[in-house]
Amino acid sequence: MARTVRPTAYGTPEVLQIVETAVPQPAVDGVVVQVRAAGVNPIDWKIYSGAFHTVEDKHKAAAGVAEDMPRIGMECAGVVTAIGSEVTGVQVGDEVIVYPATGAYADYVTAPVTALIPKPAGLGWHEAGSLMLAGTTATHALHAAGVGPDDTVLIHGASGGVGLLAVQLAAALGATVIATAAERNHEVLRGLGAIPVSYGSGLLDRVRAAAPGGVTAAVDCAGSDEALDTSLELVADPQRIASITGSGRRADAGIKLLGYGPGQDAGTEFRQAARADLAASAGAGDLRVLIDNIYPLPEAARAHQDGISGHAPGKLVLVP
Ligand SMILES: NC(=O)c1ccc[n+]([C@@H]2O[C@H](COP(=O)([O-])OP(=O)(O)OC[C@H]3O[C@@H](n4cnc5c(N)ncnc54)[C@H](OP(=O)(O)O)[C@@H]3O)[C@@H](O)[C@H]2O)c1
Repeated sequence: MARTVRPTAYGTPEVLQIVETAVPQPAVDGVVVQVRAAGVNPIDWKIYSGAFHTVEDKHKAAAGVAEDMPRIGMECAGVVTAIGSEVTGVQVGDEVIVYPATGAYADYVTAPVTALIPKPAGLGWHEAGSLMLAGTTATHALHAAGVGPDDTVLIHGASGGVGLLAVQLAAALGATVIATAAERNHEVLRGLGAIPVSYGSGLLDRVRAAAPGGVTAAVDCAGSDEALDTSLELVADPQRIASITGSGRRADAGIKLLGYGPGQDAGTEFRQAARADLAASAGAGDLRVLIDNIYPLPEAARAHQDGISGHAPGKLVLVP
């Protein structure tokens, strides 16, 4: 038998329960992966909170809301245990990252071969299982904002899962990075090459002081009105502001909206193409996946409560 964590209703993390099922069989063109680590992402609790009821039909499968009661867990890493009859190039025993995954909060996950990325030997299970969703989003956001070596980029929500990777990727591109976060997280961000700035009242003045030459692009991982207004005030071209979250006000701001909602760019192909470079950088130690906490699979609800209420910088990870 195999365990899967599933929401039993729409609501708060208490609706999550372990369900026992048979170990899944692979599709003819797919594989079964025994999960070693599954990354926890805000989309996992937003899916069963009902927040995504506005997702466009064409994006529902990618956002995990195609079923009446969604399966959760969009990324993991593990070992291939079975392969379909038409699969080539993958062996039982291969260590892989699965992204995008469906229902990765489980002992086993089925996946098409297109979702597999070889796990670099130098990358730990926890890091491999929680790199891709945040990493591909960060890569997409920096690309959408056109960030390059001559830029000073303002990254809002920089101490979150996406922000920590966006900071490192922007710094690796040669950009100067101004990173907003709670003060307790400034040291971590400094260590990743950013100039940290506290969010909250007076943010605009603090960013101006930190970037006397001006800000040329912004990536918004925070979603607050303050992040939007500060970005619009500082960045001359609104098309160089990319937001991955936030209120409906953003829809009329002329900025780039990335995601699955109406009028947003899901960037599916771009993100899929970004996976190999992310794996290579993380495997080589050039990109750090910080881990905050690791939970046994049955404690998924606690992981979600911690994710919702706020935690130290780094990913939350479930381990079957
Ligand atoms: N569109 C997409 O494709 C996509 C993909 C991934 C994620 N997302 C969304 O993007 C958001 C961030 O995701 P994540 O995985 O990075 O989340 P996360 O790991 O939970 O991080 C959220 C961060 O937001 C920071 N924060 C809270 N209030 C803030 C404020 N007012 N100003 C600046 N920062 C603030 C917190 O930092 P402190 O602890 O320093 O306060 C926290 O580290 C979520 O809403 C998620 O659903 C969208």
